[in-house]
Amino acid sequence: MEQELSEESVIKVEKLRRVYHTKKGWIKRKKVTVTAVNDLSFFVQRGEVFGLLGENGAGKTTTIKMLITLLAPTSGSCKVLGFNTYGEEKMIRNRINFIFGGEMGVYRRLSARDNLRYFSNIYLIPTKIRERRITELLELVGLTESADLLVETYSKGMIQRLQIARGLINNPEIIFMDEPTVGLDPVGARMLRDIIRKLKEQGKTVLLTTHYMYEADELCDRIAIMKKGKIIALDSPKELKRKYSNNNDEQEITLEDVYISLVEGAAV
Ligand SMILES: Nc1ncnc2c1ncn2[C@@H]1O[C@H](COP(=O)(O)OP(=O)(O)O)[C@@H](O)[C@H]1O
Ligand SMILES: [Mg+2]
Repeated sequence: MEQELSEESVIKVEKLRRVYHTKKGWIKRKKVTVTAVNDLSFFVQRGEVFGLLGENGAGKTTTIKMLITLLAPTSGSCKVLGFNTYGEEKMIRNRINFIFGGEMGVYRRLSARDNLRYFSNIYLIPTKIRERRITELLELVGLTESADLLVETYSKGMIQRLQIARGLINNPEIIFMDEPTVGLDPVGARMLRDIIRKLKEQGKTVLLTTHYMYEADELCDRIAIMKKGKIIALDSPKELKRKYSNNNDEQEITLEDVYISLVEGAAV
């Protein structure tokens, strides 16, 4: 499946590059340059669930940070909903949102409902719509019964579910999820996968990173595998498995097999 540039591409990344300049070592502060994202190009269509896979350090989070307007590219083009993520971020921010796994993005001294009210106010959502949306989101993430308890009394899984609700509070057209199931228990992880499917049914676009291959296989329409800031394979899970099966029809190949042979360099 070749990528095609179409009007419905809600994410357009062309020759995107991000270089970090840092210092290494405690005594001799040696300057190091890391090219985290190296001339990356890909497009995501409206309504797609698009997976970014790759080892730690492959450049996934850096790519997402540029897409959600939180980090400036070093060079190249990075467009979301037709606008530049650097320079036109105000045109984008209300229409997208993000969920970063394992990160504390809610207030412990507030209830879930008050947290969601607080985040709604940032987006200037009218009170009437706000209350209805909060009720729906609490239901979606299974927090209706504990909605008015303080978050500090919540389990880790409940907090993470609240973060999912927070990431949907502005009814975003595109949701970026960076390792959203990290640290979730199996029930929470399944709930998140169900939510992603529901979002897709609603026509939303999801860009997702995960280290769980079955999750990517089950959810994603297309997958890009990244290595050292570049895409080394991009296709539907089915096509990836077909392409890298070495014509061995007898043995069923898994996405994990494809992933491992690609990142270890055996199949490329
Ligand atoms: N703020 C930063 N300063 C310096 N180097 C960074 C910074 N953030 C990430 N990196 C480096 O950039 C590379 C890509 O990191 P990252 O985008 O976090 O990858 P991934 O999310 O795929 O694990 C890594 O080598 C990482 O060490
Ligand atoms: Mg990361």
